[in-house]
Amino acid sequence: MPAVTASAPGKVILFGEHAVVYGQPAIAAPVTGVKVKVIVQADPLQPSGNIRIESPAINFHATRTELPEQHPLNTLFQLLEQALQISRLPAMKISINSTLPAGAGMGSSAAVSIAMIRAISQFVGLPLENEQVNKIAYEVEKAFHGTPSGIDNTVITYQMPIYYVRNQRPELIHLKDSITLVIANAGEAPSTAAMVAGVRQRWQQQPQYYEQIFHRIGRIVQSARKILEEGDWLALAPLMEENHQLLQSMGVSSPALDTLVKASLQSGAYGAKLTGGGGGGNIIALVPPEQAGQIAQRLLNEGAFHTWLTTLRPLKEDDQS
Ligand code: PMV
Repeated sequence: MPAVTASAPGKVILFGEHAVVYGQPAIAAPVTGVKVKVIVQADPLQPSGNIRIESPAINFHATRTELPEQHPLNTLFQLLEQALQISRLPAMKISINSTLPAGAGMGSSAAVSIAMIRAISQFVGLPLENEQVNKIAYEVEKAFHGTPSGIDNTVITYQMPIYYVRNQRPELIHLKDSITLVIANAGEAPSTAAMVAGVRQRWQQQPQYYEQIFHRIGRIVQSARKILEEGDWLALAPLMEENHQLLQSMGVSSPALDTLVKASLQSGAYGAKLTGGGGGGNIIALVPPEQAGQIAQRLLNEGAFHTWLTTLRPLKEDDQS
């Protein structure tokens, strides 16, 4: 069997993180400049049915039989066997390479799962449809993160901006115009599961207060979707600001995130907000394309650990690969 390669991009949540866990809509978009690449090849040296997994960047080297029963990759292999209707995947070597930072809220676990599901299913000659890929990746995300909303695996599977409501079929968003974002990392964040659990605890203590915030975020998401589909994306700026303030009042921002949001606005960004689980991790800033480099540099000067530039484009001129 010839070697097979599959890749999957990163993602950012544009609007609606956290509230999405409570049934509100959210919008996420792929980040194609960062990628997980998975190569699957035959491994004749392995005993029948064993799988060797190598991820040199994180110094992860294991075989399927060595993984603990509850390991998310075991979930992935078992669900793939069910979906492909084969009793045991053949022996193979899986190499994972990534330019996608882990634990930075860019969807690295979902991207690894999706690239693996695609590469393995193609390797055995039974490629899966997006819907099946997404379903398996969601179960693996649960094994990784507890109670994720499913937004990461969905946007990374479809590689398009999506309007997402938990447990509903995702709706693809067709952008009217390109938008340019600077993504900046404010440093290590607690796990998304911990941030989600913190919000849950506070919501249980003050349900009305939190539900009103979730509801307001839902309304922002609906307005943002309309703007993305109709153009006039400068109108996204106040929505970003409002969404960031609501995330602050939910207790998921941090001084470092707030500093980067403020610095983005002072250096010429139209709007900025934290993205993802918060507590650290990333912000996104909506920027004039010609000033993107300069704004990114300013954010590095203000303490950002890393920045990425990404342009979301309408499908017709889409050059994603
Ligand atoms: O930290 P990230 O980018 O994986 O995003 C988490 C988004 C949340 O809404 C906080 C949780 C979820 O599962 O949707």
